[in-house]
Amino acid sequence: MKRIIYLLAAALLSLTAAHAEQGVSSEQLGLSKTNVRDAPAPPLYTFSTQFPGTSQRLPRAYPGAPPQIPHNIDMFVPIKMGANQCLGCHNNPALWGQPLVQGIPTPIPKSHYTDLRNAPDKLTNQLIGSRYVCVQCHTPQANAQPLVANTFGR
Ligand code: HEC
Ligand code: HEC
Repeated sequence: MKRIIYLLAAALLSLTAAHAEQGVSSEQLGLSKTNVRDAPAPPLYTFSTQFPGTSQRLPRAYPGAPPQIPHNIDMFVPIKMGANQCLGCHNNPALWGQPLVQGIPTPIPKSHYTDLRNAPDKLTNQLIGSRYVCVQCHTPQANAQPLVANTFGR
């Protein structure tokens, strides 16, 4: 009887060992290809340090996408009620229809002076409130590469 129990226990043990061998290692899981016991040092990402007027416009993510902010904005945020420095440079309807010039702020487009929800056909002479917090839609870009490749918009 004892012999049989030993044999059974040995068989069970070898089964578990075989199962463990087939497992997935932590290096194969997730986007960080490291062991779960490691404390990896993530790369440092930096945003553009270029002052407005010295940066290059960035490509749009897709047609109709909010353009990404190519210049540094540290000095202009947070945007507060009554204090929006983006407007100082970009609120310039006089430039509508003019070709874009390197170093000259792109004017805030007509869509931002139109209440698209309540009066989509009426261009007003005031920025619509829902466009006030620019960084809700326009964001500066860091030099981070996508962790997973994607072909969206291509
Ligand atoms: C001192 C003037 C100035 C201020 C303040 C400023 N910008 Fe700009 N911005 C520019 C200029 C000039 C460009 C064109 C790129 C360049 O020459 O650096 C630009 C480009 C951009 C673009 C890209 C437009 C395009 O055609 O692709 C966006 C979006 C933008 N700025 C948003 C902002 C936001 C949001 C703020 C506030 C947080 C802001 N800017 C503050 C001058 C300014
Ligand atoms: C609710 C989202 C949203 C907010 C808030 C917003 N924008 Fe935009 N913006 C967009 C989208 C989407 C586009 C591209 C489509 C278009 O031109 O309407 C755009 C386009 C622009 C452009 C490019 C115009 C051109 O002719 O290429 C500029 C410059 C700009 N926005 C500046 C601003 C500034 C400055 C603010 C803050 C005062 C702001 N936006 C707030 C969504 C937003």
